[in-house]
Amino acid sequence: MRDLASRLTEVNAEVFASLGAPLELARVSPSDRPDLADFQINGALAAARRLKRNPREIAAQIAAFWKSNGDVAAVEVAGPGFVNLRLADGSLSARANEIAADERAGAGRVAAPRRVLIDYGGPNVAKEMHVGHLRASIIGESLKRLYRFLGDDVLGDAHFGDWGFQMGLLITAVLDEDPPLAGLIARYEADPSEANRAAAIADVTRAVALEDLDRLYPAASERSKNDAGYRDRARRATAELQAGRSGYRLLWEHFAAVTRAALTRDFHALGVDFDVWKGESDVNDLIEPMVRELRAKGLLFPDQGAEIIRVARNEDKRELPPLLVVSSEGSAMYGTTDLATILDRKRYFDPQLALYVVDQRQADHFEVVFRAAYLAGYAAEGQLDHLGFGTMNGPDGKPFKTRAGGVLKLRELIEMITAKARDRLHEAGLGAELPPEEFEATALKVAVAALKFADLSNYRGTSYVFDLDRFSSFEGKTGPYLLYQAVRVKSLLRKAAEEGANPGPIEVAAPAERDLVLALDAFGHALAEAYDKKAPNFIAEHAYRLAGAFSKFYAACPILAAPPEVRASRLALAAASLAQLEQALTLLGIGAPERM
Ligand code: ARG
Repeated sequence: MRDLASRLTEVNAEVFASLGAPLELARVSPSDRPDLADFQINGALAAARRLKRNPREIAAQIAAFWKSNGDVAAVEVAGPGFVNLRLADGSLSARANEIAADERAGAGRVAAPRRVLIDYGGPNVAKEMHVGHLRASIIGESLKRLYRFLGDDVLGDAHFGDWGFQMGLLITAVLDEDPPLAGLIARYEADPSEANRAAAIADVTRAVALEDLDRLYPAASERSKNDAGYRDRARRATAELQAGRSGYRLLWEHFAAVTRAALTRDFHALGVDFDVWKGESDVNDLIEPMVRELRAKGLLFPDQGAEIIRVARNEDKRELPPLLVVSSEGSAMYGTTDLATILDRKRYFDPQLALYVVDQRQADHFEVVFRAAYLAGYAAEGQLDHLGFGTMNGPDGKPFKTRAGGVLKLRELIEMITAKARDRLHEAGLGAELPPEEFEATALKVAVAALKFADLSNYRGTSYVFDLDRFSSFEGKTGPYLLYQAVRVKSLLRKAAEEGANPGPIEVAAPAERDLVLALDAFGHALAEAYDKKAPNFIAEHAYRLAGAFSKFYAACPILAAPPEVRASRLALAAASLAQLEQALTLLGIGAPERM
């Protein structure tokens, strides 16, 4: 669905053509001075330069052309040659009715849909999530929703970190701590038949819970840093796991399953859902043939017992390390699984674009992997894109940590923000009549809105400070403010329905109504910008502007007390605003409650 600016541009192209001016100068854009005009034409100045004519004269000709156009109520030449347009109420009304009737709330679709894979979240077995994972989840989820909404065929993959050194560490730590379990595993390994498998799984399940992993992993990780013997055992365990040792595989499956179940639950509370939950381990069987192929292609070079791919280029401004494909112990590395994953995705999805929403600190890693993939012919240059992001910082300016000082536990974070949301609701006198369960669900929604909106309203590249007081406020540029506006419209519409008042054709007249329609009209452009720049902050910005325009309209224009036709028009305008606001929030991964 095309917005007013593009329709006006098309008409404006006629007068530019008749003047002999280049058509790309004919663009009509929303006015910088909404108090003076709705739209403006800036191209007269550049056109005059090209045509070697007086800019004000050209502008006057453009203005004369527009004067005869019924969609326009006022035309004016300003300054050295800007043309200001004010639309007629009728054309704004027509546009408003179009948006109100549109199930996509006035959004467009991409002309050429693509297959896009989004790699985001990236949680790991046992290792706690940090803010990088949190931001990756929030940003990736929003991009996935946006691309899909605009028509792309999108697959979101969690790319679960389930295959690295941490697995060998865990296996070592668990078996060291629990000799009877080690005995049971040894027995299973002596006869790893299907018949024995179920019993062995039951043993492991009984012996190892998620809390054990949470407890054992940090200690094992610490110990491996200073204890070379321990580190070697863990490395060996990693290599044996990857080579298929049956008892280790069994343990690993259990570790991965319990971690994944807990993560899925926490992600779900945050409104983050992956389409595929593949892991690094899923490409294990691809690695050997891949390495053979890379060798055959002459891309692998021996390097101190390891094998590498050289990716540095002459024009590089900083030095990039090679890709370590096979370590000196013969293990596959983080980059190896990433390379094999590119191959795997090509086979099952063949994405035209793969986006990696991962902490900026991994920029070099991805540059190296992508270059290796291009060299190997697993992707075409430019099809792989790392969308890095800044960090969410604590008051000390360093990446945010929980009160305990540790890395972020998603569960704790959600609980902390939800507690704050409860307080805020109480403070604001909201939700008091809700049944306890609904109140809880609402508090979670407010919490998620606070966290996600605070994150997504920044351009993803910038870092920001975690400030729960500000994020959770019902005033200002916050998620809770937007929810509050949405809920306000919902209750207005409910009340109208109770009174038997129905929405009808929209007829704009008041300035606040005009502004609201212009805000609604800008949705498509905001989405296009977010899509092109791969940055959800444009959606967040739009949601905030729309809510502000609605709020002014609500204050200036009586609705239920208005005469029937005006009331019907305003109800329809309110409903259209709500639909678009909720759509925008959905794209940010935020859901609004029915009432508060
Ligand atoms: N699990 C990784 C980490 O915690 C992030 C994975 C990102 N995606 C990828 N394809 N490497 O750092």
